[in-house]
Amino acid sequence: MRTIDWIDDAVVVVDQTLLPKEMVFLRLTTVEQLVEAIQRLAVRGAPALGVAGALGVALAARQHADGEARAQAVHLVETARPTAVNLARGARRAAALLPSFDAVLEEALRVRDEEIASSAEMGRRGADLVQELCGPGARLLTHCNTGGLATVVEGTALAVVFELHRRGALAGVIASETRPLLQGARLTTWELGRAGVPHRLAVDSAGPFLMARGEVDAVILGADRICANGDVVNKVGSYAHALGAAAAGIPFICVAPESTVDPDTPSGDKVEIEDRGSAEVVGAAAPEGTSAVNPAFDVTPASLVTAIVTDRRVWRPAPPR
Ligand code: MRU
Repeated sequence: MRTIDWIDDAVVVVDQTLLPKEMVFLRLTTVEQLVEAIQRLAVRGAPALGVAGALGVALAARQHADGEARAQAVHLVETARPTAVNLARGARRAAALLPSFDAVLEEALRVRDEEIASSAEMGRRGADLVQELCGPGARLLTHCNTGGLATVVEGTALAVVFELHRRGALAGVIASETRPLLQGARLTTWELGRAGVPHRLAVDSAGPFLMARGEVDAVILGADRICANGDVVNKVGSYAHALGAAAAGIPFICVAPESTVDPDTPSGDKVEIEDRGSAEVVGAAAPEGTSAVNPAFDVTPASLVTAIVTDRRVWRPAPPR
């Protein structure tokens, strides 16, 4: 199953807001429909957003003959969410081929195919590294969702998990639930279950304690943007896990394709962190009228990152601890 693809003249995505209860595919035929799907996280995860950005430009090319209207539509796609570098990067890559619809679509499908190939590479490289650092039977903790749902197939950090499982080198995974939208509880557990990977779910704040108690051999997760200095911008909660890993003396491994590495952003403090507003956090529990601060991402400084595994290299941005 592909999370996102171009089928019969439309962008087709799995609606991730309905998982794990229902598997519904959306057919998106306009830029407006795609942007709405991105903003409500029906399609999400940095590499999948890169493909969505590129395919969104194909929609724009088909929708608008007028250059100005087309440029506005491309801008809507590029800026639908600010933090994951893949979205604007995928859109810009395809937009360089405008106004030819055929050339744009060809480039967008190339972005899709590159992400598929990247997942396989990251899986192999990451599994080698985890085996080297943790030995056989690793017990891993992961955060948010980094599986096929966040890419096109397989994933980034979860591609490593799946590969370790195939190699018989994985004892199990703790999935951190990922407040407030529960990508870990809803999506990661679903993907791990389908693959037969032994796993347990934990509340986000349990992570550092489980590490301190010796129940985790390494933290492995993805990224929405990796800065030039190795700072990792990822789903909020990642930083707490990194602090926990450092305190427990275990590796903190980030797995992401080169398409997520952003040499133009020197460090994490320069990244726009999406704030998704109060409603997601306040929910039904808080008194009416409570307002919330809701950063969707945080920054883990390079000094806390043991290794960044991409489809091409293993990068150790900080001196060994
Ligand atoms: O807000 P989301 O669900 O799009 O955030 C996704 C993440 O933070 C993932 O960890 C990241 O994109 C890595 S995906 C392989």
